[in-house]
Amino acid sequence: MKLSRRDFLKLGGATLIAVAGGSVFRVVDQGVFSVGQGVAYEPWTNWRDAATAPERIVAAGILASNPHNSQPWLFRITDSAIDLFAVPERQIGVIDPFRREMYIGLGCAIENMRLAVEAEGFIPTIRLMPDPTTESHAASISLASALPVTSDLYTAIPNRHTNRAAYDMNRAVVEYIFDGINSLLTESNVSLFWFKDESARSKFGEAAIAAAEALIADEQQSMDSHLWWRHDWDELQESADGITLDVQGLGSVITPLAKFMPDLSRQQNDEAFVKNVREVMVPTASAFGILAVRDGMNNVQRLQCGQTWQRIHLWGTTQDLAMQPLNQMCERVDREHQLGIEPVFGKAVGALINDDGWYAIMPFRLGYPTVEALLSPRRGLDKVVRH
Ligand SMILES: Cc1cc2nc3c(=O)[nH]c(=O)nc-3n(C[C@H](O)[C@H](O)[C@H](O)COP(=O)(O)O)c2cc1C
Repeated sequence: MKLSRRDFLKLGGATLIAVAGGSVFRVVDQGVFSVGQGVAYEPWTNWRDAATAPERIVAAGILASNPHNSQPWLFRITDSAIDLFAVPERQIGVIDPFRREMYIGLGCAIENMRLAVEAEGFIPTIRLMPDPTTESHAASISLASALPVTSDLYTAIPNRHTNRAAYDMNRAVVEYIFDGINSLLTESNVSLFWFKDESARSKFGEAAIAAAEALIADEQQSMDSHLWWRHDWDELQESADGITLDVQGLGSVITPLAKFMPDLSRQQNDEAFVKNVREVMVPTASAFGILAVRDGMNNVQRLQCGQTWQRIHLWGTTQDLAMQPLNQMCERVDREHQLGIEPVFGKAVGALINDDGWYAIMPFRLGYPTVEALLSPRRGLDKVVRH
């Protein structure tokens, strides 16, 4: 549900006016009445409007899931090809020291583009990491003319959003859904481990909560995460990236009130996050999953994992499911490697999937929504395309 000015006034627009020390201040509009509006949100509605097919394909790519909404991508386009490059400057610091999440996010963009290529009337030839000497060159997509194929997954592209709210505990996810998701795993190097029954969910939940606690206790991880927090409406319209209040899943009453409040400190934000993981995200999930690859450092496999995640989330969107990655346990595994400290989460995550042949890189939760997930900002084509 989007909140209009009238809805908000019904909720108690008196908070528009703050009275302090006898003076009356008009509280600035922090986007309360403009949810999903402004230049930072236009890519969600104008993604099919660009003049050329390669631009429209990239416009689908930038709507993909990506870590901390850092959008670590740059696209080079010609009439018959699109090249995708990683932008290391947009890395999320020690949250992702080995760029695992960056390449998963690039894989998500590749999957959206693959669907758009087909809808635009081309057959794609996709080469992942096409130049072994250039680590930033993530993919090369060449286009050959064909009949257009518009799939349900393509149509779902602008409707897919990460849902961080409570999920409906009265509506179980049935086997048909798990089977449907399993059938989306088409790459031999990507596997999916499920945590469905109470005992499996509880083991996953313990690791997820402990990882969130460990992450905020690591000052550098906490600081690097906070760099992507966007509270100020003008700032987020300008940067068109990062994590906003709208996407916290706080619902249509709390979200506008939170926007009027002064920004929380990093520590307050961290505490709210862990509380949310412990009290909302973990206990209300119908199930958890972990996507795993054969070699966690292999960029081709990470890209394939990202393609798989995007496909799963798009298909889930067509089934009215809610989904959210929960990556803190893998972020701690990477951090332990980086610092050379005891692999507490290395062992815990290994125990969760309990198979030496696979390496966990993308944990997530799913269920049915109680709250509609709102849009996150996006950097438009003018910022990410080079001709
Ligand atoms: C590799 C990867 C890791 C992510 N990890 C998390 C996470 O731990 N928690 C979370 O709430 N969202 C996570 N996300 C979701 C992103 O924050 C989200 O995709 C991004 O903010 C854009 O929002 P959207 O998915 O609604 O378009 C992750 C996404 C990717 C691709």
